[in-house]
Amino acid sequence: MNRFLTIFLSVLILGTFRAPAQERITKYFPSARPERIVLNITESPATSIAVTWRTDTTVSETTARISPNLPTIFLADSARTVKGKWQDISADGVTARFHSVIFSGLTPGAAYAYSVGSGANASEWFTFKAAEAVTSPFTFLWLGDSQGPVSLYSRVIRQAYRTTPDASFMIFTGDLVDGGSSTMLHDDEWGEWYRAAGFIASEVPVVATPGNHEFYDPQARQKRDLNKYWRPGFTLPANGPAGLEETTYSFDYQGVRFIILSSDDMIRNEEIASSTTKWVEGLLKNNPCRWTVMAFHHPFFSTSARRDNKAVRENLKPLVDKYGVDLVLNGHDHTYARGTAMPEGMVRKGKAAGTVYVVSVSGPKQYQQDANPWWDLGYTNTQLWQAININGNTLTYRAYDASGAVADQFVLTKMKDGSNRIDTPSAVKNK
Ligand SMILES: [Fe+2]
Ligand SMILES: [Fe+2]
Repeated sequence: MNRFLTIFLSVLILGTFRAPAQERITKYFPSARPERIVLNITESPATSIAVTWRTDTTVSETTARISPNLPTIFLADSARTVKGKWQDISADGVTARFHSVIFSGLTPGAAYAYSVGSGANASEWFTFKAAEAVTSPFTFLWLGDSQGPVSLYSRVIRQAYRTTPDASFMIFTGDLVDGGSSTMLHDDEWGEWYRAAGFIASEVPVVATPGNHEFYDPQARQKRDLNKYWRPGFTLPANGPAGLEETTYSFDYQGVRFIILSSDDMIRNEEIASSTTKWVEGLLKNNPCRWTVMAFHHPFFSTSARRDNKAVRENLKPLVDKYGVDLVLNGHDHTYARGTAMPEGMVRKGKAAGTVYVVSVSGPKQYQQDANPWWDLGYTNTQLWQAININGNTLTYRAYDASGAVADQFVLTKMKDGSNRIDTPSAVKNK
């Protein structure tokens, strides 16, 4: 064979079969100034809160300051300094230093200001309120999959904040980003997620659990490690089953029990499905709260004929039925659907609510609904966000579209026997 032809073919073959995986270089490079500053819920939200942020590796100390949110310009004089820890993550063409501090010893219900970093690189003062230590009305936000390009998602989280600036926290039910694995971390997608949230995530505590896309790895589908940016980027509770720290956890907030769990782990691993189920049962069995909300990525009932999250449904639905969980919030299906389901063997009558299940989506990636409809109301090609208020025996739920109009709403009333009645006033324009 012609020598040049041999060389040409060799280069072509090597190029085709031995090309090293291309590292995806981020567009978001850190500096000495703190960024990606996120408040995180803790398991004791009346007395503590966590904050995470990112810098470059020239910053060798993790410090933050916290003060009562006084009107004085001499705020720093009344602040105490709290030290935390950092870790470096190298990927996507960048090494970033992720910092984490937990503020403890807070006064329930008090307003605080905090700043992260020090000296010339200290952040501005952000403000928040600690939870009350007793049952008390509050509103929280919930957002489904934002996943991927945020050009259309940003307006949704900003609209949510504009409409509900006093929200106690924001739940994210997974697929915050589209890609993320041990080999392809996709820092640029995280950069966009943080950019969309901006200072909102620095003042409204984040409650997040991963979806399947925070584990996604096209090179190693069975392995599927949690995206390396998750634990450094958040400081979430570690009170779930062993190995599921910061992805499966619970907290009680002003009389409501929240159970947050990583359903993708349950689907991929039977042992995890069983330890998670046992853990959930413990939380439901010994539950001092009048209301219980569960949030995770994969719904019991899909809106797609091709999707069925059997491991999640078969393990958890009997517990949801037995203990009468009030509300189950899910993502994954990239549509909106809200319905109720009675416990097995019981027929829905009149205004009996059973458990209310909602699937929602906040980003522009949208699918069609083609399953046997279990829902009372559904949307496709619509980005949504939700605000849920709990006040005594009343839970008021509203879903809003990206324009800020009410797209769905219902009211649950807790009856003396612990069951719920549902009222669904027709959707109204709120503006
Ligand atoms: Fe998903
Ligand atoms: Fe998704």
